[in-house]
Amino acid sequence: MPRYNLFVLPGDGIGPEVMAEVEKIAAWFTREGIVQFEIDKGLVGGAAYDAHKTAISDADMARAQAADAVLLAAVGGPKWDGVPYEVRPEAGLLRLRKDMNLFANLRPAICYPALADASSLKRELVDGLDLMIVRELTGGVYFGEPKQIIDLGNGQRRGIDTQVYDTYEIERIGRIAFELARKRRNKVTSSDKRNVMKSGVLWNEVITALHAREYKDVELEHQLADALGMQLVRRPKQFDVIVTDNLFGDMLSDVAAMLTGSLGMLPSASLGEKNAKGETRKALYEPVHGSAPDIAGKGIANPIAMIGSFGMVLRYSFNLGVLADRIEKAISDVLEKGLRTADIAGGATKILSTSQMGDAILARLQAVV
Ligand code: IPM
Ligand code: MG
Repeated sequence: MPRYNLFVLPGDGIGPEVMAEVEKIAAWFTREGIVQFEIDKGLVGGAAYDAHKTAISDADMARAQAADAVLLAAVGGPKWDGVPYEVRPEAGLLRLRKDMNLFANLRPAICYPALADASSLKRELVDGLDLMIVRELTGGVYFGEPKQIIDLGNGQRRGIDTQVYDTYEIERIGRIAFELARKRRNKVTSSDKRNVMKSGVLWNEVITALHAREYKDVELEHQLADALGMQLVRRPKQFDVIVTDNLFGDMLSDVAAMLTGSLGMLPSASLGEKNAKGETRKALYEPVHGSAPDIAGKGIANPIAMIGSFGMVLRYSFNLGVLADRIEKAISDVLEKGLRTADIAGGATKILSTSQMGDAILARLQAVV
């Protein structure tokens, strides 16, 4: 039986509630002798700040680096609004991404047919939607230097962030997008703002050259990031793989998430480079949604994005695509049966709690595995 070490970071808000549902499923896989998961738990975000005044401790960073895969739920909340910028909850997540060199963020947006009516768009626009946003995750304006607020001495201050991309960063994220497209519908849409940004001009040139050199068999188109945002809500099914930078990817993936019915539906994987043998890579998995402090502790959060993220662990870190397919099938079956959490309720009469939804998915999984 395969054996893997999972480092679990439930974080803040609804994080621990949705993570508990993944732990149930992982424990079941272990009990059944399908995959043995050793689960190790740490603190990130506000939870880490409360315990030791940092957004993630060095000890937990080391455990994340050593794990076969890291699973994170969510960070942040109004409770930590006043903490110093360097140790705000989000800093823990950004340090994990940066220190583990997780440059490729895969955010699939799939609209389950049963949920098409929960979308804010008309059913025919989103029914059957299946696109993948490939977001660059360790560069751009998130990490560029200088990043500071300076005092100009005349009663004015200046806030500075720096958008910066090097050729190799654009090439490696481009490769991930083209490779993924080859296994999907063979189309890549690259997005930048080359009409106003030098980094956008370079982005466009590097992707175009990479395509001409190595991926001529894949269809490539370019869309400016603002136009792409518009197209996402106008005709989302035109897209297969979208590749874009850190900031545009952040914004566009929230839009894409909402197309699928709820932010509570979208999983994501953040991947690093393969190791020298080409066998394993560092990876962190997390839902696209945040910590939702307004509903935290009520047991009503939707655990599907978190469970879907666990499915992505199986697919991308452990090469267990068959089991990942079964998790996705279990989710889809449960939705098909009309079972809903509050965020995707629509007209449903019976609304499930977080743990009831987790139980329903597990029960379906037990039936199909
Ligand atoms: C995301 C989030 C993060 C980001 C925040 C929590 C720092 O919005 O993963 O999309 O901006 O990357
Ligand atoms: Mg975001």
